[in-house]
Amino acid sequence: MKQRENFSSKLGIIVATAGSALGLGNIYRFPCEAGANGGGAFLIVYLITALLIGTPLMISEFIIGRRSRSNPIGAFRTLSGKKSAWPVVGYLGVLCAFLILAFYTTVAGWTLGYLGKSAANHFAGQDLTQIQAQFISFTNHPWLPVACQLAFLALTAFVVARGVKDGIEKWSKILMPLLLVIMVVLCINSLTLSGAKEGLRFFFNPDFSKINGRVLISALGQSFFSLSIGMGALITYGSYIGSKDNMVSSATGVVLADTLVAVLAGIIIFPAAFTYGIQPEAGASLAFTTLPMVFQQMTGGYFFCLIFFLLLVIATLTSTISLLEVIVAALTEETHLSRPVAAIIGAAGTAVIGVLATLSFRTGSSLHIGGSTVFDLLDHMTASYFMPIGGLLIVLFVGWVMKRADAMDELTNGGTLRSGLRKVIYCIIRYLAPVAITVIFISQLVR
Ligand code: PFF
Repeated sequence: MKQRENFSSKLGIIVATAGSALGLGNIYRFPCEAGANGGGAFLIVYLITALLIGTPLMISEFIIGRRSRSNPIGAFRTLSGKKSAWPVVGYLGVLCAFLILAFYTTVAGWTLGYLGKSAANHFAGQDLTQIQAQFISFTNHPWLPVACQLAFLALTAFVVARGVKDGIEKWSKILMPLLLVIMVVLCINSLTLSGAKEGLRFFFNPDFSKINGRVLISALGQSFFSLSIGMGALITYGSYIGSKDNMVSSATGVVLADTLVAVLAGIIIFPAAFTYGIQPEAGASLAFTTLPMVFQQMTGGYFFCLIFFLLLVIATLTSTISLLEVIVAALTEETHLSRPVAAIIGAAGTAVIGVLATLSFRTGSSLHIGGSTVFDLLDHMTASYFMPIGGLLIVLFVGWVMKRADAMDELTNGGTLRSGLRKVIYCIIRYLAPVAITVIFISQLVR
């Protein structure tokens, strides 16, 4: 049998998982959700769910992945036996990856478009109305957003077709730290703006009376989305982790880095939004109007804007790679397709639904189902239903279906790592995480 590829080092898993986690979820979706759900109230629930549920769930996915050395479908089959129904969770995960990739590439395309706009210096000297008009005219353009989306998908397929190690590790290693550096610079800049105090108050002051079922599920969904958990992406990456890698410290490192980047994005965006009079609940346009406004008033703005959008494109690419990898790993291992053919089929399939999501953004578009755009529907379905349910089933599987000895064997690398903390993690996976996810999931239904 052909040997499966592994990441080449401990840095390899951290870098690849962080590459999957860091992306539009942090810089575009997080501020958008925090803005729509009351700022501080959302942040606090988000932090608790990301750290307390997100970390053990990420570790659970690594356990399933490394134990089975397989894609999500094969993983559940290997670990639960041929006749069991558990592989359905793997199928749901692959379907979820496909649906996320479809609408994610809509915004990924925008980042490519905005990279072009920054290179052409389109934001210089523009006021808020003009920058808002640019967003509307870009998303309404007859073919440009679709072309950018398809280009992004093609780029993703190209990298995935060449294989995990060459593709993913190489890209992420250098560029993710650079993104962090530029975000810190932008943060410092935002703190000097006139609306800084108001923005920070909005973002950090929790108004507990605002916490309701909708805020809870939005925060849970956002933390799962941002960490790429609850649908098998990290089962797939977990299957490439070497047997000596420490999955607990890797997962913790990624969760902390991902949370840090989301919080930095909030510190960049909210002070700027309050300074320029942009509504925090502006939704999809929030990041794409606030950021150009920030750049056009900043010293060296042209340069920062260009580098920022370049890094954002790359951060987004490492996330789309991990989404397509879920589909490609499943297709190559469950059928006998080659990697390049699977990558092309996966990308082409995604393009069909993805283009509908992009077109649904146009003013007056009829691409609405039940009152929401195709884009919003895909986003809502995956973050509020697929990922919480997937996450719940994954922790239940590790906590209750897998043998405790096997899970502990993975957690401690065959007994070579200290087991005290790992026993606590196992208990969280078995008891706390399933109860917390269930309570939050039900809270949205009984609104
Ligand atoms: N975590 C990515 C982000 O925050 O942008 C989005 C994502 C990537 C979700 C990969 C799910 C996934 F499998």
